[in-house]
Order: sequence, then structure tokens, then C-alpha cells
Amino acid sequence: MSDQQKRSAAQAALDFVEPGMVLGLGTGSTAAIFVRLLAERVRDGLDIVGSPTSEATDRLARELGVPLVDPNSVSGFDLTIDGADEVDPQLRLIKGGGAALLREKIIADASARMIVIADAAKEVRQLGAFPLPVEINPFAAELTRLMVLEAVGFVGLSGVDARWRMATAEQRLHTDGGHLLLDLHCKAIPDVEALGAVLDRIPGVVEHGLFLGMADVAIFGQTEGVRILEV
Ligand code: A5P
Repeated sequence: MSDQQKRSAAQAALDFVEPGMVLGLGTGSTAAIFVRLLAERVRDGLDIVGSPTSEATDRLARELGVPLVDPNSVSGFDLTIDGADEVDPQLRLIKGGGAALLREKIIADASARMIVIADAAKEVRQLGAFPLPVEINPFAAELTRLMVLEAVGFVGLSGVDARWRMATAEQRLHTDGGHLLLDLHCKAIPDVEALGAVLDRIPGVVEHGLFLGMADVAIFGQTEGVRILEV
């Protein structure tokens, strides 16, 4: 059912794509459905270019013949379409479940608009049930982990469990950029702005998965049709 909802959301996002646009192409299962649908339009003559936010999306887009553009050769993006792990009523997001949050945030920040596509379960009243991914430089990573735990205490969060994302039972996962991911199991994040601000101040933190003030539209697939939220 959620696959059908993801597909409905991805399909609806295509209506926002116009000829000539420079697109940011998101990462994850919903974004992959969008890239497949976009590729069909491209085969039918739609003229767009896109920049992938991960190696996985890059491979998919190349396989499908979606024209790509080096992000270094553009001054920005017209529109980014990406998934999310959680979306709250103010369109604040948790992203990074697919380990691509850094490139996703770089591209989303450089985009005039960001549209989030997701199944209905991603719409939440409050962020935080989904573990918040924090991307960390491998240098002195254990020290940075302690700094992160101290910082979450500053914003009144207690009992936060911080776990390294693993690739295998023994090996920590490395992101496309060669960094580690620390997943913060917060259960609920009452003040997302405050948490984002304290994480931003830790030198070993490369980025975090709170996307605040970035999304303009969220499209949630439903059992029938879609629900569109705009800010
Ligand atoms: C990738 O790092 C994430 O931000 C994804 O956008 C997010 O995990 C949503 O993925 P799904 O579309 O697979 O749920």
C-alpha cells in the first residue's frame, strides 16, 4: 500500500515540473519512483536536466537516460523533488534515513523550491519518532558523539540514545562523502530549531537531518489520491 502511495505522490510531483527546469533529484525509494516517472517524460520529449543527491540516484538516472548536470556548472536549481522520513505540519523534515542527507541538503538549499513526496505514514504531528541522522567527520568521531550528547541535553532532551549507523554487524556505514552517521533516538523533539542550532555549532558535525524552512510543498500519497500541504 505504501508503494502505491509513494507512486501517487511521485506522479503528482510531475505536475510541478516544467520544460527547461534544472532539477535536484532526491534519494530514497520514493525519489527513485519519481526519477523513473521523470525518465518516461524525458523519453516523450520533456526537456529538463537534473543533479542527483547520491551515488544511488546518479546510477539510476544514468541507467534511465535522464540528462544530468554537474552542480558546479549551475547557479542554482529551479526545483528539488525528494522524499522524507518525517514531515510536520510546518513542513519541517527529518531526512537522512537513506544516508544521503548532506548532498540532499546542499541541493535543496540551492533550490528555489523543494517538493517533498512521501507515503501517508511520513506525515506526523511532531518530529522525532524517526531517529535523527547526524553526519559526522570520522576524525575524533567518538569525541564528537559526546559533544552531540551534551548538546542534546542543552535543549532539554533526556534519555537520547545515539547509535552509529552500521553497514554490517562490524562495519560502520560511510556516506557517499566518507562520513559516519550517528542516529539520535530522541522519541520526540519538542524544539527542532533549538536542536538544529546546537548541532550546527559542533565542529565535527558535518550536517544533520533536520531540514527547517526548506520544503515548500509536501505531497502525501493516500489510499486514494494525494494530500498536498503548502506553506
Ligand atoms: C535519504 O537520505 C532520505 O532523506 C530519504 O529521502 C528518506 O529516507 C525517504 O526515503 P523513502 O522515500 O525511501 O522513504
